[in-house]
Amino acid sequence: MSAQSLAVVILAAGRGTRMKSASPKVMHALAGRPMIQTLIETIEGLSPEKIIVVAGPDMPELEKAAAPHSVVVQAQRDGTGGAVRCALPALKGFEGNVLIVLGDTPLVKKETLRALIKAKGSGALSVLGCKMSDPAGYGRLKMAADGSLEAIVEDRDANLADKAIDLVNTGVFCVDSAKLAGWLSKLDNKNAQGEYYITQLPALAVADGGKVFISTTKDEGEVRGCNTRGDLALLEKTLQDRLRAKHMAAGVSLQDPQSVYFSCDTQVASDVVIEPQVFFGPGVRVEAGAHIKAFSHIEGSAIGKNVSVGPFARLRPGAEIGSGARIGNFVEIKASKIGKRSKIGHLAYVGDCEMGEDVNFSAGAITVNYDGFQKHKTVIGKGVMVGSNVNLVAPVRIDNGAFVAAGSTITEDVPANALSIARDVAEIRKGWAAAYRKKKAAKKKAKK
Ligand code: UD1
Ligand code: MG
Repeated sequence: MSAQSLAVVILAAGRGTRMKSASPKVMHALAGRPMIQTLIETIEGLSPEKIIVVAGPDMPELEKAAAPHSVVVQAQRDGTGGAVRCALPALKGFEGNVLIVLGDTPLVKKETLRALIKAKGSGALSVLGCKMSDPAGYGRLKMAADGSLEAIVEDRDANLADKAIDLVNTGVFCVDSAKLAGWLSKLDNKNAQGEYYITQLPALAVADGGKVFISTTKDEGEVRGCNTRGDLALLEKTLQDRLRAKHMAAGVSLQDPQSVYFSCDTQVASDVVIEPQVFFGPGVRVEAGAHIKAFSHIEGSAIGKNVSVGPFARLRPGAEIGSGARIGNFVEIKASKIGKRSKIGHLAYVGDCEMGEDVNFSAGAITVNYDGFQKHKTVIGKGVMVGSNVNLVAPVRIDNGAFVAAGSTITEDVPANALSIARDVAEIRKGWAAAYRKKKAAKKKAKK
């Protein structure tokens, strides 16, 4: 087995009590997916021989998110050291570097991990450190006079002098597999929390006559741990900044980058312009030349070439907008295919609909897709004109080239090129309003 072999252990069994949440901490979402998945994707980029996720006993959702990687359960949450111990059976027979990462530190970069592995070299242990502007809460790296790492002091166990150290333990370690089990057996729990801490490893390595190597990153955002909702918001900001930079580098214009939110999987082609205050939920693809106007909320949708969306548009899962179509303000589209060049300009709802090309769907028109029990489909052919304030009561079909008159409630299919009109004929009473006003005014006067 070459010294280059790599196994990765991800610690994710903690309850995350400081999050005050019913779900495991690592399942909280960043950019539209559980943070653990972002970390796993980075780890997969290192092509390790195995990835082992340490989960708590009551975390079926985490086991699902970690698939296809092996999950071991830490029955008793007795600390980060205890968590690594649980991974030992899964590491049996493995020889090489064991990278230990924390599930609540999901934004660490691949290059940083590579540098940590390199820093260890043929030694026994390396630790990833970072100078933090606010080191409170983190373990501190206590350095020896020769510049090597002597020990890690947990915040809870630190004295005033230790607390002044701003070089912190990011929680990422690279350990020689041959040493790991022996050191883990020597951990004690004589600390403020009565837990077995992985942070005892450096002191054990030094006692073993070894030297502990340090690798550092200058980017504190990538190694910030998520312990509270405040941390979660900071991590979201870091990840969003990364996604914004990635899309701009790929040729997307963001007029106000800070106000646009992406999901990890958002795909945006070049020459797309995105105005301020746009939100992309999971599963969105935007093709070249599209223009997404301000205050639009888009998820699970495919937006074709040169489409214009918004301002104030809502595209829900299953919206597929054909090239050149225009989706205007206060329009909601769900599970519908919109044909090329069709226009849904204002105040409309289109749900469970198949709409052809060159349709005009006017202001206030809606598909009535739900009968209180089931959803039904509306089919609209090519070149159809749907007037304002129309209800298309599904299931219903409007064939190619038909007209639906404004204000109509349509419950039956309309054949091609026909006009359908379903509203009362207006009755005009000449002079009625003037007579009415006169009568009312006289009554009011008499009362006074
Ligand atoms: C830990 C480190 C601290 C470091 C910081 C970096 C220890 C003792 N402390 O503190 O030095 O500066 O991370 O963010 O390691 N976990 C388990 N099983 C357990 C306990 C925790 O799997 O029994 C997992 C958690 O799910 C979490 C990770 O280990 O993903 C870290 O645990 P956490 O409680 O957040 O440790 P910190 O207090 O942040
Ligand atoms: Mg933490």
